[in-house]
Amino acid sequence: MSLMRFPALLAAALCALPVAAGTASDEKMDEFIDDLMSKMTIEEKVGQITLVTYDKSFMTGATQSKGVAKKIAEGKVGGVFNVRTLEDKINIQKLAVEQTRLGIPLMFGLDVIHGYRTIWPVPLALSCSWDMDLIERTAAAAADEATSEGIDWTFSPMVDLVRDPRWGRVAESSGEDPYLGSRIAEAMVRGYQGESLDDPQSMMACVKHFALYGAGEGGRDYDMVDMSPNRMYQEYFLPYKAAVDAGAGSVMSSFNDVNGVPATANKWLLTDILRGEWGFDGFTVSDYTSVGELTEHGLGTLAEVSARALKAGLDMDMVSEGVLKNMDYCLEKGLLTEADIDVACRRILEAKYKLGLFENPYLRLGSQPVDREKYRSLALEAARKSIVLLKNDRNVLPLEKEAKVALIGPLADTRWELMGTWAGAAAMPDEGVSIKSGISRYTSSLIHTVGAPITDNPGLARMIGVNIERSGDPDSLIAEAVSAAEKSDIVIAVLGENAKMSGESSSMTWIGLQPTQRRLLEALVATGKDVVLVLLNGRPMTLEWEDAHCAAIVDAWAPGLQGGNAVADVLFGEYNPSGRLTMTFPRTVGQVPIYYSMKSTGRPHIPFVKYRTGYIDCPQDPLYPFGYGLSYSQVDYSDMKAEYDSVSRSVKASAKVTNTSGRAVEETVQLYIGDVTASVTRPEKELKGFRKVELAPGESLTVDFSVPVSELGFWTPELEYIVETGEFTVGIGPDSQRLMTAKVVYSDVADCPAELKTL
Ligand code: BGC
Repeated sequence: MSLMRFPALLAAALCALPVAAGTASDEKMDEFIDDLMSKMTIEEKVGQITLVTYDKSFMTGATQSKGVAKKIAEGKVGGVFNVRTLEDKINIQKLAVEQTRLGIPLMFGLDVIHGYRTIWPVPLALSCSWDMDLIERTAAAAADEATSEGIDWTFSPMVDLVRDPRWGRVAESSGEDPYLGSRIAEAMVRGYQGESLDDPQSMMACVKHFALYGAGEGGRDYDMVDMSPNRMYQEYFLPYKAAVDAGAGSVMSSFNDVNGVPATANKWLLTDILRGEWGFDGFTVSDYTSVGELTEHGLGTLAEVSARALKAGLDMDMVSEGVLKNMDYCLEKGLLTEADIDVACRRILEAKYKLGLFENPYLRLGSQPVDREKYRSLALEAARKSIVLLKNDRNVLPLEKEAKVALIGPLADTRWELMGTWAGAAAMPDEGVSIKSGISRYTSSLIHTVGAPITDNPGLARMIGVNIERSGDPDSLIAEAVSAAEKSDIVIAVLGENAKMSGESSSMTWIGLQPTQRRLLEALVATGKDVVLVLLNGRPMTLEWEDAHCAAIVDAWAPGLQGGNAVADVLFGEYNPSGRLTMTFPRTVGQVPIYYSMKSTGRPHIPFVKYRTGYIDCPQDPLYPFGYGLSYSQVDYSDMKAEYDSVSRSVKASAKVTNTSGRAVEETVQLYIGDVTASVTRPEKELKGFRKVELAPGESLTVDFSVPVSELGFWTPELEYIVETGEFTVGIGPDSQRLMTAKVVYSDVADCPAELKTL
């Protein structure tokens, strides 16, 4: 086995977009900022690196900034977030521009996570569309709406890789896979930032949470991460880097500890990797009070930790005001120099310059008109494409129009819970569509009952805003639901999680249906009627019993503003479901972490055989694998071909897909590659390509892939990226398990691109 090597920097460059170095506009910007900074006092510079919430804002963290108007007027603030109204933003900007000595405009931030006023499905759901064009369009539409109300900067995309469904924030992610996550990260950055950041409809993206926030121990929020750098480079870093390469203007540090140093004070992450290896030239911002929280990590006083974070490469402090409150002390004690503050201040000023704010501080404060009607149809498209059909026995779905439906469940007649996490800022849930109203477009024969409280766990109920006392007597609720079921042809049970059960600070040890809901489902199944489970959820759930007993399962996630219409369109066949899972669904929570790209062991799994990896009380495989999802059509895969092509220096692979059904379908064809023998252990397979194709009834299509040779490589324990010659298994199929495979041999190092060979 021979190999070619290329170190971190060059490997990074391989996938990077071309960067224009030293352009004329950079020079103009530098001159402008040099001039401005020459007039600034050190206090004013510290002001620029201070990000605050507004006194009248809503809360997205436990503390809120105080005396903000005064601070702004004194030039002690660089940016403000969570400001509710456009009017407030205009007034605040006036304060900064008209009252401060130098009139430096403020930058307005907000968590625009999955839509601003028009709410799309939560990011995990949207990722199940595997539709990069759609994802980019939703980000651009969110930017259009948010900028029309004064937002310059969104705290999105969250690109943390996630493999533990106990963590509530998996809802905000794009799932478990680095390749897919990277493509989504790029699409979102492109969508938010548009052609140019100084376009009034563009807002700056903020890639978060750097780094490894999704890998906290035990799925607990804010918890520590201890991971080999090799694994970081190989898997967890990829989506952050892809977002940086796509030009993201800012990066947010994460709350968690990374191998002993919290990310917010981690020089290796914030400077060596982000800037040194990846060439990031935007600015970094802390997470909400994560600078102050370094004291809770035990790293010292607020003055010490704030100085340490700044020196590590953190530019802007969200809410802690650490340097602002301790500037004199930090300078006196030599914890910081003015030059340290200059570096950070310059980066914030550059961001404002790029956003066009010096040219016009009111650029996004003019209330530009927005075509909300257009975005309602985009919300419907996004929700339809995010829904994943998990089971459909005997083709019980789609339903006939005017079927007699018993619609049961505490989530069947709500608009708000369909919005999911992070929809509080400006969402318009009143314009939303409940599942009940969506279904009533298809049948007038509909009985709805609540059936069960979401939970009867008092602690959980308090955390998710459910009043158990007011939920009604569980036995009577079930009796009512059973009686409705008995009078109907089909039961649709809408169960799962309300909006607060996933998202920040929503880790759970139990990821099955709450016992109250399960009891209801058992009673419905016992009626002998076909039960279709429509699941609302922000995380993969454990559904073994449900899979064994329900006729069909439709995973609708938190589908957003048009969720009710989208679910009904799927149930009644107006839309042929096409979503594919981007996170593995375990059988039981005991299997977590579980993901498709696991490595083998020296004792590979054989079900219920001793001295083999796995569990003795549960199969090794998941309930639903990564990439999985059904439709109402049958798509056959055949004629797989794969070979190494030395001209294009890539693996060329193709397969024929045929829609053998009478219904048009969108099929996501997935390509995986596994390295058969290598100098280090490798996952059995890794996603290396996908294509979403439309197939008319009876249509066949040959789907081609081309995977560049650089994609066959891996990071060594010494952190070199290498490609080794040898045999690779190529798999093509509808999900990560059902694959046709072929072997290819990559044998000729001489075929490598010249820049790789020389190393
Ligand atoms: C979250 C971030 C968010 C920030 C500002 C934090 O609690 O972790 O994702 O952007 O608050 O609201």
